[in-house]
Amino acid sequence: MNYRILIIFIIFICIPAMILAYSSGAPSMACKTLLPLHENTSPSKSNPKFEIRTVPGHGRIRITLGSNEGFPFMGFIINARDVESGEIVGEFVDIPNTVQGVQCTPGINNTVTHRDSSEKHNIELEWTVPSDYEGTIIFNSTFVQSYTMYWVGVESSRITILGDSIQVNTTTKLPTTERTRTTPYYIESDANNAGELTVRHPLYDGCAVTKNCFGSPDGCIDSGSCDAAVAVEVKGERYYFEILGKNGKYIAVGLSEDNRMGDDSVVECENRGGQMEIHMSWNKGKSNSRIPTPVGAISLESSSIENGVLYCKFLREKSTVIQGRSFNLTTQLFHLLLVSGSDLKPNGVGFHDLIYAASSSPRRLSDVGQIAAASDIFIRVHGGLMIAAWIGTASVGILLARYYKQTWVKSQLAGKDQWFVWHRFFMVLTWSMTMAAFIIIWIEIGEWSSETIHASLGVLTTILTFIQPIMAALRPHPDTPRRQLFNWSHWLVGNAAHISAVIAIFFAVRLNKAKIPEWVDWVLTAYVVFHVITHIVLSFVNWASDRQDGPTIDAFPMKDMHMRGSMGHSDIKRDAPLGGLRKLIFAMYFIIIAIFVAGLVIIVVMAPIEDSWEKFKNTISTY
Ligand SMILES: *[C@@H]1O[C@H](CO)[C@@H](O)[C@H](O)[C@H]1NC(C)=O
Ligand SMILES: *[C@@H]1O[C@H](CO)[C@@H](O)[C@H](O)[C@H]1NC(C)=O
Ligand SMILES: *[C@@H]1O[C@H](CO)[C@@H](O)[C@H](O)[C@H]1NC(C)=O
Ligand SMILES: *[C@@H]1O[C@H](CO)[C@@H](O)[C@H](O)[C@H]1NC(C)=O
Repeated sequence: MNYRILIIFIIFICIPAMILAYSSGAPSMACKTLLPLHENTSPSKSNPKFEIRTVPGHGRIRITLGSNEGFPFMGFIINARDVESGEIVGEFVDIPNTVQGVQCTPGINNTVTHRDSSEKHNIELEWTVPSDYEGTIIFNSTFVQSYTMYWVGVESSRITILGDSIQVNTTTKLPTTERTRTTPYYIESDANNAGELTVRHPLYDGCAVTKNCFGSPDGCIDSGSCDAAVAVEVKGERYYFEILGKNGKYIAVGLSEDNRMGDDSVVECENRGGQMEIHMSWNKGKSNSRIPTPVGAISLESSSIENGVLYCKFLREKSTVIQGRSFNLTTQLFHLLLVSGSDLKPNGVGFHDLIYAASSSPRRLSDVGQIAAASDIFIRVHGGLMIAAWIGTASVGILLARYYKQTWVKSQLAGKDQWFVWHRFFMVLTWSMTMAAFIIIWIEIGEWSSETIHASLGVLTTILTFIQPIMAALRPHPDTPRRQLFNWSHWLVGNAAHISAVIAIFFAVRLNKAKIPEWVDWVLTAYVVFHVITHIVLSFVNWASDRQDGPTIDAFPMKDMHMRGSMGHSDIKRDAPLGGLRKLIFAMYFIIIAIFVAGLVIIVVMAPIEDSWEKFKNTISTY
């Protein structure tokens, strides 16, 4: 007989027996073993989804039973044990009506269990310290999530009781469910939406229990607040997909072997004039185009468009061949790509401007668990560092070297000209940040990127940057004729690196991964215009300065000015004319560049910036 049918058969036989035996509370023989009478089942060996929280008070301990992720449980049994003897100790008092005390020792409610099998969230209990007791206890419990899924022997932290002192030893805590973040303990009503009854969409029901769920923004599945989400449920041999998305014209889910676009089979639900249509498409590289749906590959089960929320549920054939590739859902591992956009084309979907999210690790869709989004912290840090380096420090350093050799000449730092010291300072920063950003993105991607233009320019920038300080260290003495050659190549390599870096940043705006809004192009353009204008103005100022100073000074900026104003020159040290104007321009340039950098770094690190902005506004408006 088929294995699945056998299991279903056993469950059907056993459920009535279990309900009889169990639903009115664990029998008292479970006092010691904590075992529910679930025949033909055994306790789960996985990390428990539930835990016991203890808060010591005066002669009492307050206990909360629940799940950090907000999962409900149907049944439980709990008592306190002395860790040495294993004896059940203490007594529960003020037992709420929703649960019941069990007298494992006659006359003493030293154990608590459920009354019925309704879904429970956090159960709070009061436990009193036995008089004259000294020693270490733990609370030991069983949590029943479903008739087949339960954990026996879930222990609290150790609690040492010595006279009036109650010490909770948190280092002995057993591992609970792996968590990627600390969500608040289950709260009945969301404080932000107090008074407003929010109904969870049915898509979220059963996530991580019977369905594989994945949503954007990260962590939204638990709270049922996704902007877009996908859930996959396997019933027998049937693969049901549900997708949901807010405020778009279409929502789509792709099956991908990597977590990038390219060679993916996509199913999209499109809102065409209030009617939901389902189609299949194919990602060829970065572009998506509709394909004829193979007979029987998908079928729409249900769909809805309510308050701007698109939802559709469809069945996908477990094994299909799309564009010559086989998609065998039972055997193959897939990343889920979840996208939505605000535009439709006559024969397909528009750019995924609203959501683009890829699940971090490939998995078999029938293996249930929550799917985390691919972490993009490295991408954000890479972007932030490159912007600080090339929009920031490199721009300033280049400007200093080019126009400020005859400014601040009176003061020197450690025997070096001011412009040189600061040029070197900004360029060392540029170098360090570029190398760090390059290493970070290399670790993150680990292979040649599919974003060829951005990646090529990035590698070019990094190579040029890398050799620049080596060349500078080996520069010939100012008096030698080869110094000119050095100056030229130093200038050439530096500017080439700067230009290729800025172009690479323009291309980064187009990367899905970076989640940067398109209007950032205009910010970058504004930077380029500002940078060029400053160069033109300063060239003009230096030209004017040279005219005032007479013909003895060569206006050509590439000529090494180092000797002038230092010992080799008989003139007293003084700035070239118009020094005040140059300093003013530098101050303005520095401030405006700092503003550009701050703005762009915020956009990149907080990406997608529109979402962060919405959250920020919401936070502000609640005060
Ligand atoms: C035990 O708890 C139940 C409530 O669950 C209560 O009715 C009963 O009086 C308690 N018994 C003792 C001895 O405290
Ligand atoms: C808690 O209960 C489990 C299951 O009965 C048992 O194996 C474990 O030893 C108990 N822990 C303590 C400290 O009594
Ligand atoms: C807590 O438990 C750990 C491990 O059992 C033990 O090493 C440590 O001494 C305990 N700390 C206290 C304060 O009891
Ligand atoms: C899909 O995988 C299953 C299990 O290995 C296999 O029986 C089936 O033939 C495969 N289907 C295709 C079309 O490859």
